[in-house]
Amino acid sequence: MQQKETQIVALNKDHLERAYEQEQLAYAARLLHAGEIVVFPTETVYGLGANALNPRAAEKIFLAKERPFSDPLIVHIADEQGLESLVASIPAAARQLAAAFWPGPLTMILPAGPQVPGLITSGLPNVAVRMPDHPIARALIRAAGIPVAAPSANRFMHVSPTTAQHVYDDLKGRIPLILDGGPCTVGVESTIIDLCTDIPTILRPGGISLEALRQVLPQVQPPQSRQTHTEDLETARVAPGQMLIHYSPKVPTYLFEGSVEAMRQTILDEVKQRQRQGEQVGVLIADEDLNAFHESGAIVYSLGNTLEQVATRLFAGLRTLEDAGVDVILCRNFTAQGLGLAVRDRLLKAAGGKVKTLNNT
Ligand code: TXA
Ligand code: MG
Repeated sequence: MQQKETQIVALNKDHLERAYEQEQLAYAARLLHAGEIVVFPTETVYGLGANALNPRAAEKIFLAKERPFSDPLIVHIADEQGLESLVASIPAAARQLAAAFWPGPLTMILPAGPQVPGLITSGLPNVAVRMPDHPIARALIRAAGIPVAAPSANRFMHVSPTTAQHVYDDLKGRIPLILDGGPCTVGVESTIIDLCTDIPTILRPGGISLEALRQVLPQVQPPQSRQTHTEDLETARVAPGQMLIHYSPKVPTYLFEGSVEAMRQTILDEVKQRQRQGEQVGVLIADEDLNAFHESGAIVYSLGNTLEQVATRLFAGLRTLEDAGVDVILCRNFTAQGLGLAVRDRLLKAAGGKVKTLNNT
């Protein structure tokens, strides 16, 4: 791939009306129009955007990420008119969900209109659409006046980026421009809901919880649990890209599940055992575990206290431990309520399914 210089432009998301911000947004919009790719922040993770109606532009996304063409892209819009230009029909459920959660971290799978290139949908009859709630994402899509296809701006199979630096680490030399809007506030990707089936079903848990969705549509089904790789290949045909090892850091990662006490003790024991074998161990824990790990000798990254904090710090935590050069990452689990479902999904994927379930004592 031809190397290019990657420019990082910091924008103040609270002052996009300023001349500098306007100038840079207009420049980014021109790049999109010219068929180039541009990285921009969303409230979930950073996205690698291209004109969704131009297959040659969208192709650059796949090449930069080294993503297989069988993995379709989410199309980002700034208003409801954008939706109408992409889909063959809008089910009543979609209108209800849009009214409740857009702009925000919800992606809907809807019947694709004829104008959506097959490259975007990987040849599926359906298209994924999302209206992000980040001032820079919204201003960029508006300025460009086109729907913007954007996956997370990481190398394929790597951890999603929640800062401009994460994007730069993965894609420098492969993209012309990163709009830097600071750290993403939600930190896990959007919830994907399939509205092309009889019963609305979550394909990927994310920033909007199952409980919140059910307040609008009580019949929404949770994602199907996938524990094995064999089952996973089956699911992959329906929801491409939902493979178990999708979000892996470059070092082996293990997830521990059980009571807080059992997780803490077992992780501590494993730290000691691995250190005896000369391994450098990284642990991903919560603030409430910090005292227990104080003198453990492990490299510690705390995800915080609340599920919101855990979601926001999760990907940064995985990348920080990876960059610290640890041989293994041991990670505790959190409740599966609310945002916790998305957190567990990402941890499970980071661990590639390597889960140690502990008997609660
Ligand atoms: O929060 C997010 O959703 C971020 C930001 C940038 O918006 N985007 C994101 O995109 O996570 P990506 O490409 O990393 O993940 C999108 C997932 C993939 O697993 C893809 O297979 C699935 O959505 N997807 C896209 N179109 C689909 C379709 N028509 N049917 C089923 N799954 C689809
Ligand atoms: Mg992704």
